[in-house]
Amino acid sequence: MFLRSVLLFHSFTCLWNAIDASSYDGQTRLASEAPDDWQKYVRSPANQIVYPASIVANYTQGNVTNPQGLLTGKGTTLFTRPQPGNSSAADLSPTVVVDFGQNIAGYLSISFGGSYNSTPGRPGIRLAFSETLEYLSTISDFSRGYNVRGDRITPGSDQIAVADQPYTWTADHGCQYGNQVCADGLHGFRYVMVYMDALAADAPYTTPYGQVSIKSMSLNFSAFLGTPDTFTGWFESSDDQLNQWWFDGVYTTDLCTDVFGANDTDPRNSASPSIVGKLVLHDGAKRDRDPYVGDLAVSSRTSYLSHSVPEASRNVLADLADHQRSDGWIPPASINGYTLPLLDYPMWWVVCSYDLFMYTGDTAYIQQYYPNIVKTLDTFYPSVTDPRTQLLSKGFGVSAGYGDYGFIPRNGPVTYYNALYVLALQNAATIAQFLSKDADSARWSSRAATVSAAINTYNFDSSVGAFYDGTCGDSYCNTHAQDGNSLSIVTGVANSSIANSVLSYLSKANARPYGNAFYDNDVISGGYSQRVYPFISFFEIQARFMTGLADSALEEIRRLYGWMSTHDPEITQWEGIGPNGRPYEGDYTSMAHGWASGIVPALTNYILGVVPSGPGFSVYTIKPIPGDVEWAKGVVPTPNGPITVNWQQNQALGLFYLTATAPAGSQGTIYVPVSNSSVAVYLDSQPIPNTLQKRGGDGGTNGGYVSVTIKDGLTHTISVGYKVGS
Ligand SMILES: *[C@@H]1O[C@H](CO)[C@@H](O)[C@H](O)[C@H]1NC(C)=O
Ligand SMILES: *[C@@H]1O[C@H](CO)[C@@H](O)[C@H](O)[C@H]1NC(C)=O
Ligand SMILES: *[C@@H]1O[C@H](CO)[C@@H](O)[C@H](O)[C@H]1NC(C)=O
Ligand SMILES: *[C@@H]1O[C@H](CO)[C@@H](O)[C@H](O)[C@H]1NC(C)=O
Ligand SMILES: *[C@@H]1O[C@H](CO)[C@@H](O)[C@H](O)[C@H]1NC(C)=O
Ligand SMILES: *[C@@H]1O[C@H](CO)[C@@H](O)[C@H](O)[C@H]1NC(C)=O
Ligand SMILES: *[C@@H]1O[C@H](CO)[C@@H](O)[C@H](O)[C@H]1NC(C)=O
Repeated sequence: MFLRSVLLFHSFTCLWNAIDASSYDGQTRLASEAPDDWQKYVRSPANQIVYPASIVANYTQGNVTNPQGLLTGKGTTLFTRPQPGNSSAADLSPTVVVDFGQNIAGYLSISFGGSYNSTPGRPGIRLAFSETLEYLSTISDFSRGYNVRGDRITPGSDQIAVADQPYTWTADHGCQYGNQVCADGLHGFRYVMVYMDALAADAPYTTPYGQVSIKSMSLNFSAFLGTPDTFTGWFESSDDQLNQWWFDGVYTTDLCTDVFGANDTDPRNSASPSIVGKLVLHDGAKRDRDPYVGDLAVSSRTSYLSHSVPEASRNVLADLADHQRSDGWIPPASINGYTLPLLDYPMWWVVCSYDLFMYTGDTAYIQQYYPNIVKTLDTFYPSVTDPRTQLLSKGFGVSAGYGDYGFIPRNGPVTYYNALYVLALQNAATIAQFLSKDADSARWSSRAATVSAAINTYNFDSSVGAFYDGTCGDSYCNTHAQDGNSLSIVTGVANSSIANSVLSYLSKANARPYGNAFYDNDVISGGYSQRVYPFISFFEIQARFMTGLADSALEEIRRLYGWMSTHDPEITQWEGIGPNGRPYEGDYTSMAHGWASGIVPALTNYILGVVPSGPGFSVYTIKPIPGDVEWAKGVVPTPNGPITVNWQQNQALGLFYLTATAPAGSQGTIYVPVSNSSVAVYLDSQPIPNTLQKRGGDGGTNGGYVSVTIKDGLTHTISVGYKVGS
């Protein structure tokens, strides 16, 4: 392997130099073949026990001796507060804010060196957690114990009655004395405020004064600990920022990968016995800590492409299917006893089932739950279809009060529901094909085509060149949403000229400094034109790549992920972004939400270029859509072994080089970009015909692709514009 690489470097270098020595310096030329160093981007803590990174100095107040002592190995910290009646300066509640350096989730422990109080009752310590400094206060940014839907055992902080002898306290959910001196348990946070105080309601067990000594603090990390040795897939490219955001996305999803705990979720009555104790993919690290199936449309792909823990997704999909309603509707999550009425999530359940089958090859799952797919598609959705148009129409059947991923108050033949319906039908038709259910496959394909045609017939607004959202009264509202417009392209509802028109409209009307808004205006609700959902933005980014508009896909990625990565808490990716780029629901916003990690599938599927089209990647394509990325390499895990890809381009000279290896027995189609039909193309240094297929989207004016089919387990090299190996 090593020898082969060295020989390849040599010939590659010589030929590349022969064409244009000046355009490449020594480093970039060989970058794609340099030793892998993706490990440097991994964000996971090194160990399950995590220690604070620093003290946020400007929050320190009151009489605190050695605040740095809360960091490991820095001595002891003393909190001292005299009894009331002494000077007001001395009366400030002693406070220190600890920064763990990045968002984390788990159970906090404090090693106390003891305490002293001159009167009965122990000195009280209170803790308030936050993902951001903006929402850090004496009350946590979110707390299950302080939520209308929670059990209200705390007022939003965790309380401790500090014992006089040294001991270690751990934030277990519950109360020290009956229903007094209570803690919320698990937290997802970056910062924690530690302050001496006591609730009046906790008398006589705690008092807001005395002296407390703290030796150290740590967190027992409860989520998936994604250290470098646990990666089964990875991505690296010439763009350092893209690489880091890919690993940030993986870390965000890792933080959501956890065992479902009866007392960790919001609201606590989401804790269905059928899911408690199982590994799941939660929506967020802080909240709800309840797995929602729409979220999995993005976060499961991130999970499959980075760590081989498909059970986290499978457990959720199986549990929701097990709670299917008799009319075929599938609940979005366990919340409210599996009754939260969403219209789109049963379709995402079908799409996620397809993804599980394609990415992990779980035939047992797909066979067991195939009847649930049939019932959803053939019983529930027909019941909310307008027979005059064949479009799903919110208002028909039970659907009037139903919500969706954004609880958007929209109505009628909404483009998003219908384009997602086409996706679910297409995916189900493919599943049916692999299970030899030919009649189902044909029926679903034909219905997908009918719905697709109806979307074009009824929902297109030629005045702006994009699809309407839905209806206001008897006519279409003058508003256009990112979700339906993007999915119309992903599903092929939009042909290539409409796709270009839609994407240019979204660029013009929806672009904000922190991503693309989910609506072009505020017709449906105030603030919509300033709100960005990283979740649904994935499908626009995917639409841009699929239309061949890699530059605009990368431009959107850089605005969206560039914003999140440079704003507190940094690293983890957010549930939603609101006006001025701030967390969209204030302190309630989850700042580590797996559904925002679309950068991971976007880069692996379209920059590295690997997409499955048969169960467990038994059939797959490799089709890089490189834009300004000069090289990329990575590994995609499959049940039968890795698919390894490494490519490098010189766009100006029209050169492209790709090497790939896949498991024996799988069938791959590899596409390489070519400028025109006179460029030479080589497979394993043998010339092959340049049968240029035009790129979608730009009418073929920017060249196209040449494809070859690979069926063995060997390494193959395809080069465009020059011959490798001679
Ligand atoms: C402390 O400094 C940070 C910036 O490091 C700032 O965001 C925060 O508002 C300050 N807080 C206080 C209480 O001064
Ligand atoms: C702060 O607390 C320490 C330790 O109890 C004490 O020695 C010191 O006098 C206190 N400082 C003030 C200004 O009260
Ligand atoms: C004020 O603090 C001193 C120790 O700093 C203590 O001896 C005294 O009892 C306090 N006074 C009152 C009224 O609590
Ligand atoms: C959840 O919390 C309640 C109240 O503290 C406790 O009784 C119960 O045992 C906890 N359940 C689990 C599974 O930890
Ligand atoms: C961390 O939590 C795990 C899971 O609850 C537990 O098994 C382990 O003992 C804990 N580690 C420490 C050091 O408390
Ligand atoms: C796309 O559809 C529109 C409307 O039906 C049609 O006018 C246009 O010619 C089609 N474009 C392509 C490339 O098929
Ligand atoms: C074809 O593309 C190559 C590489 O970009 C370029 O050098 C050549 O001039 C092109 N030929 C034609 C006929 O456009």
